[in-house]
Amino acid sequence: MSNKLGGGVKITFFGHAAFRFESPEGKTIAVDPWLENPARSTDVEALGPLNAILITHAHGDHLGQAVSLAKATRARVVAQPEICAYLGTQGVGNLIGMNKGGTVDVDGIKVAMTHAVHSSSIDTGKGLIPGGDPAGFVITFENGFAAYHAGDTGAFMDMKIIRDIYSPDVALLPIGSHYVMDPREAAYAARLIGARFVIPMHYGTFPVLSGTPEELIELLKDDDIEVVTMAAGETVE
Ligand code: NI
Ligand code: MN
Repeated sequence: MSNKLGGGVKITFFGHAAFRFESPEGKTIAVDPWLENPARSTDVEALGPLNAILITHAHGDHLGQAVSLAKATRARVVAQPEICAYLGTQGVGNLIGMNKGGTVDVDGIKVAMTHAVHSSSIDTGKGLIPGGDPAGFVITFENGFAAYHAGDTGAFMDMKIIRDIYSPDVALLPIGSHYVMDPREAAYAARLIGARFVIPMHYGTFPVLSGTPEELIELLKDDDIEVVTMAAGETVE
C-alpha cells in the first residue's frame, strides 16, 4: 500500500465518508464531517482551521457534526440550497448553495458538484424533511491535483463525464453495499472514472455495509488502478 499519491495533497480519513484535504499551500477542506462515527470519534477542534466544509447530501452519516464544525471553524459550507437553508436555521453562516454541473472557487480551490445516484433527507428529530438531491464533489487544488468524493451512490454511466471533464487523480468511492455501491459496482465505477488511485469508504461502519477493500483490490488486480485502503485517523499524501 502506498502512502504517496503524488500531488502533495494530504488526505486524512476520519471513518465512514469523512475526509479532510490539505493543499500544498495549506488550504483545508472537510467533506461529510460525521466525526462521531463507530470507527472513530474526532473532536471538531481536531480538524483545525478550515477553508470549507462540503456536504454531499443530508443523511445523518454525512451531515454529521457539520453544524458544530461550521460554528467552531467559521468555514464556508458548500452544499445544495436545501441543505444550506436548513443549516441557516441552525445558526450556520457563510453558506454557499450550489448545484450539479457548477463549480465554485473557495480560496483558489475549485469545487465542482457532480451527480450521485442515491436519496437525501434531513432528520430533524421530528421526522424527515427534503434534503435536496444527493451529490458528489470534484475538488481541484491549486496545482491541478483533483480528488473526486463520490458521496453515497451506485455506479452510473455519467461517471464518464466526471472522467472526461475533471480527470480526477484519486476517487473516494463507497463500497459497503446495501445503501451504496458494493465492490463489484465500485470496480466498474473506478474503471469509468479512470483515476489512478481509489480510496474505499463507507464500509464496515455498520454490519450491513459488508463490502471490503480486499474484494475491490481483487476485482481491480488487472487494472492500472491502485486501491489505497485507509484506517480511520490515517493521512496519506
Ligand atoms: Ni446517504
Ligand atoms: Mn451514507
